[in-house]
Amino acid sequence: MTNLIQEKDRLAIKRSLTSSHIDQLVALFQTEWWTKGRTRADTEKALQMGGPMFAFVDPEGDDLVAFARTTTDGVYKAMIFDIIVKATWRGTGLGALLMETVLNDPALVDVKHRELYCLEDMVPFYEKWGFTAHLPGLFFMRKSA
Ligand SMILES: CC(C)(COP(=O)(O)OP(=O)(O)OC[C@H]1O[C@@H](n2cnc3c(N)ncnc32)[C@H](O)[C@@H]1OP(=O)(O)O)[C@@H](O)C(=O)NCCC(=O)NCCS
Repeated sequence: MTNLIQEKDRLAIKRSLTSSHIDQLVALFQTEWWTKGRTRADTEKALQMGGPMFAFVDPEGDDLVAFARTTTDGVYKAMIFDIIVKATWRGTGLGALLMETVLNDPALVDVKHRELYCLEDMVPFYEKWGFTAHLPGLFFMRKSA
């Protein structure tokens, strides 16, 4: 772990993914409850149709070790999705680096509302970056296909 904290500096930020990175992302998705079962074809389509995406890649082994994607209109709203750090890299500060990278991206930094949804136990994590779950009167609504 100590090594990985230091080795974070060697990671490269990628704004598009190679075919191998997409394979690795799909594999990473299988490890989390809300992304489990995602297919390569659907993942590729979501990446093509979506807004800015962020991947951290370890040049040693060309390993995709963290990922987040967004959609935005560039002015009023940005949604942040699929924030994931590979299990072996968790607790090294990489999640924080990922959040700071996303939030400071020129396409997102001045957007009026940057939003995400998460389970209750993740609220303290996102509060570190100024997100609030205190939105009285607002409801999260969904219509499934
Ligand atoms: C959540 C996740 C991205 C955090 O990444 P990470 O690399 O472990 O986080 P970091 O090491 O950068 O931690 C940054 C800070 O957040 C805190 N933190 C990390 N995970 C946390 C959690 N689940 N809840 C609350 N705080 C958390 C750390 O203690 C650290 O705090 P500090 O700065 O006060 O020391 C990672 O655990 C992950 O990928 N989890 C599985 C996927 C997931 O649940 N994603 C979120 C979906 S909404």
